[in-house]
Amino acid sequence: MILIPGDAHPELGREIARLAGIAPATVSISSFADGETRVRIEDDVRGADVVIVQPMSAPANDRLMTLALLAEAARVAGAQRVSAVIPYFAYARQDVRKHPGEPRSAQLAARILATAGIERAIALELHSPALESAFPMPLVHLQADELLLPIARERRCAIVSPDAGGLKRAQRYAAALGAPLAVVVKSRPGPDVATALQVLGEVRGQSCLIVDDMASTGRTIAGAAQALLAAGAREVHAMFVHAVMAPGALERIRGAGVRSIVTTDSVRVVAEPGVEVVPSAALFVRAL
Ligand code: R5P
Repeated sequence: MILIPGDAHPELGREIARLAGIAPATVSISSFADGETRVRIEDDVRGADVVIVQPMSAPANDRLMTLALLAEAARVAGAQRVSAVIPYFAYARQDVRKHPGEPRSAQLAARILATAGIERAIALELHSPALESAFPMPLVHLQADELLLPIARERRCAIVSPDAGGLKRAQRYAAALGAPLAVVVKSRPGPDVATALQVLGEVRGQSCLIVDDMASTGRTIAGAAQALLAAGAREVHAMFVHAVMAPGALERIRGAGVRSIVTTDSVRVVAEPGVEVVPSAALFVRAL
């Protein structure tokens, strides 16, 4: 097996290689003057079982294209099989056509990867379980529960889903912890805009832990935190799998009164006070 760390999170790629006991391959990834991506695998991968590690964090277009180019490079170099560990799979929010004229972006992204030669994908907490059907190749879909639940248990909080879409995850956490459950009713008047409308469930006097798949603009978590505090919650903490974190997200979440954040290293996270980052490499090694 040869592991190729992509450019989105080479530290995670190298840690997966270390835990799996294999040396990471040397690759060069750069840009031509016009912005086109150029990749080159420096090692001989002929006959090898090649695994590329690349979360599709910002800039998502470049990460997707780099992953596709690395797969193509491995395939034409004669790799026996090409797999991709995609700790964060982007383009997942437009997975169904809600309005005429919209693409099915998730399906297209997965098809691009299949066309590039990826024969097996390993992903962590896709935006929705229904997305599994977007992948034309065999997919291992991992959950982050074993990474996050032990920390959630220490917090001794009521578990809150910040929207209806995250309710199943919150229900699972609440059931595993024997904790009370609440959900925030959210509306999305436009892309990247989230409005928390109402809290369903009793949170007065409670410490609350919002659990979600990701924070991007941070508006979902910030809105939920404000709604919970307005409903009488004693304090609010946040836990999410993918710290996508568009510029300003952390400030927005903190500004809404969120006391602490727990996330994973599925995408590269800059260390910040009050942000606990749980390593995820062991999960991927086991799946491989
Ligand atoms: C809901 O659609 C998702 O589970 C997340 O809540 C959402 O993508 C987070 O995005 P943002 O941080 O931009 O509100």
